[in-house]
Amino acid sequence: MTTACEAPAAKSQTPAPIPQKPAAGLEAPAQNFGAVDNLGAVDNLGAVDNKEQRPMVPFFELKTQYERLAGEIREAIDTVLANQQYILGPAVAAFESDFAAYCEVPYAAGVNSGTSALQLALLAAGVGPGDEVITVPFTFIATAAAVRYVGARPVFVDIEPATFNIDVTRIEAAITSRTKAILPVHLFGQSADMDPILAIARQHGLAVIEDCAQAHGATYKGKRVGGIGDFGCFSFYPTKNLGAAGEGGMVTTSSPDGIRSLRMRRDWGQETRGFHDVEGFNMRLEGIQGAVLGVKFRYLEEWNEKRRAHAAFYREALADSPLVLPVELPHNRHVYNQFAVRAQDRDAFRQALLAAGVNTAIYYSIPVHLQKAHADLGYGPGSFPVAEAAARQVVSLPLFPELTEQQREAVAGAVHASLGRRPAC
Ligand SMILES: Cc1ncc(COP(=O)(O)O)c(C=O)c1O
Repeated sequence: MTTACEAPAAKSQTPAPIPQKPAAGLEAPAQNFGAVDNLGAVDNLGAVDNKEQRPMVPFFELKTQYERLAGEIREAIDTVLANQQYILGPAVAAFESDFAAYCEVPYAAGVNSGTSALQLALLAAGVGPGDEVITVPFTFIATAAAVRYVGARPVFVDIEPATFNIDVTRIEAAITSRTKAILPVHLFGQSADMDPILAIARQHGLAVIEDCAQAHGATYKGKRVGGIGDFGCFSFYPTKNLGAAGEGGMVTTSSPDGIRSLRMRRDWGQETRGFHDVEGFNMRLEGIQGAVLGVKFRYLEEWNEKRRAHAAFYREALADSPLVLPVELPHNRHVYNQFAVRAQDRDAFRQALLAAGVNTAIYYSIPVHLQKAHADLGYGPGSFPVAEAAARQVVSLPLFPELTEQQREAVAGAVHASLGRRPAC
């Protein structure tokens, strides 16, 4: 039996009920927030009627950050407008080289989204129709979608409960003669356990593609994610640790053949203009996005440190709350794209926080294997009990670099007011 002072049971055998739509007002926010003005609207909790004019703690906002950087960002955009290098071009090339160096790899290719990054990395790794790719069901839908876009089948492996990342002890059992790659997700900003993944991949001749969409700057045993496997796939969606002024993505790699494939396929399969040697796509990163990202990249480390400081505050302030707090493994540098806690009665908890003016969000309320779009894969409730339990319990607290001390204290106060404090162990 689990006491209040223990971590949750690792492997519950109880099949989860099929998730129901959440209570009114508590809908999960769309993963992809729209423009800044949409943030409140997409996270429905932010759109609540605030009759008492109490300052709300937003779940996420970009306005403060933009106000600080507006001069630099506008100047960088103006340069692109003046030189009219709208597609790829020097701003993207400069950002690619900065980002590759940051990830400690020789190459990086800017693309138009994190989803495209995954799709192109899978193709560069030679994954195609009939192949299988081992990944997790507790992730954003894009991870599995990209596998299907290249004609392969996602084979899910459950997560481990402390970090929400792939349970490496279950990977070997999922390998078949069709397996081509392992696609771990560094969920919420913390690296998956890469050493065993690399060892298994080496032994079975598999590619390793890291989904780094939520983990720009995270490290594993001192090494930056994106430079550990064969390919690292990043999203620059605005809510990520490094976000564009729109869509964007990047693939990092040490493979000369890999970068050649990526560069060709993002640009209609051509290396020489007019010669389309392989199947390609229109997946290039735009010049304006490269320019904005080049500016924002200079602040990434500062922002990651701020995220870590907010997380440290929550960890200390909420240590005696009944919430299960996220675990940061000692060999990892977690960059906290999300501060995802587990709450037993999540809806009631979120309602109480909302009433206290604190917005929260759920990532992810339905695991990928239970999404209707992937019903044909043949999984059902109970297939991945740890992922299903996480989907029932996780809720993310507000955490973004510009969160103020008053705001984070308001969050901690609201949590204590809602749940009380645990007796000391
Ligand atoms: C884990 C994960 N993988 C992939 C993606 C896809 O990235 P994008 O939205 O840029 O296509 C995202 C983010 O949206 C994500 O969180």
